[in-house]
Amino acid sequence: MPIIIKSDDEIAIMRHAGSVVANTLARLVEELRPGLVVKGLDKVVRKEFEKHHVLPTFLGYHGYPATVCVSVNDEIVHGIPGKRVIQEGDVVSLDLGCTYKGFVADSALTVIVGPAKPGTEKLVDVTRESLDEGIRHARAGNRLGEISHAIQTYIEARGFGVVREYVGHGVGRAMHEEPQVPNYGPEDRGPVLKKGMVLALEPMVTMGDWRTKQMNDNWTVKTMDGSLAAHFEHTIAITDDGPQVLTVP
Ligand code: MF3
Ligand code: CO
Repeated sequence: MPIIIKSDDEIAIMRHAGSVVANTLARLVEELRPGLVVKGLDKVVRKEFEKHHVLPTFLGYHGYPATVCVSVNDEIVHGIPGKRVIQEGDVVSLDLGCTYKGFVADSALTVIVGPAKPGTEKLVDVTRESLDEGIRHARAGNRLGEISHAIQTYIEARGFGVVREYVGHGVGRAMHEEPQVPNYGPEDRGPVLKKGMVLALEPMVTMGDWRTKQMNDNWTVKTMDGSLAAHFEHTIAITDDGPQVLTVP
């Protein structure tokens, strides 16, 4: 499958989808507090998405049973919102996508609930900053590998681990399009970036080893060594004026 180039009109639609995702993520962050039952977040998303006439992209995707992924502490990605109760100091990653007029926007963020445990703020800050680093390199004429390399270098220089088994991706009419966007690797690899490419960049970062394991629910991905993890994701478009983040309010 080739990389699909989006028109300006299509990117405008994706920007609208992105604004709904960003506003809904902000709503979810407001809900997070000790005592919250995680499943409640799925209900909030359903209500918000109905109100804004967008579809929950994740629901039913390869059988995924919810509208949002909620991954806590040593869970990296794809946590299913269930009976779990949020505790003070939890490191909570929220991953959300919606479909508007046939186009998808995909975004994730990590927050710490209440007083942070030692070292956790640094983990979250470095993950967010590594995404910013990746975005900075998402320019027409650059190789895709420059994004990957910038993200990996930023994270590893600060002593954290970069998840290998899960990667970013092209996004458009499908949530996962070509190309894959690894958060590691040499800068002279991959396709040359062009105006109209839309990518979801999503570094997943661990406090310890980067190796992962999947839980018996067939979705939740945890760190193998039980160390904490963080995840940030934006959907971005390559334009003549540089990278444009679409998943913003
Ligand atoms: N944002 C995730 C990704 O980019 C998608 C979550 S998987 C799903 O791969 F099944 F929940 F949709
Ligand atoms: Co994604």
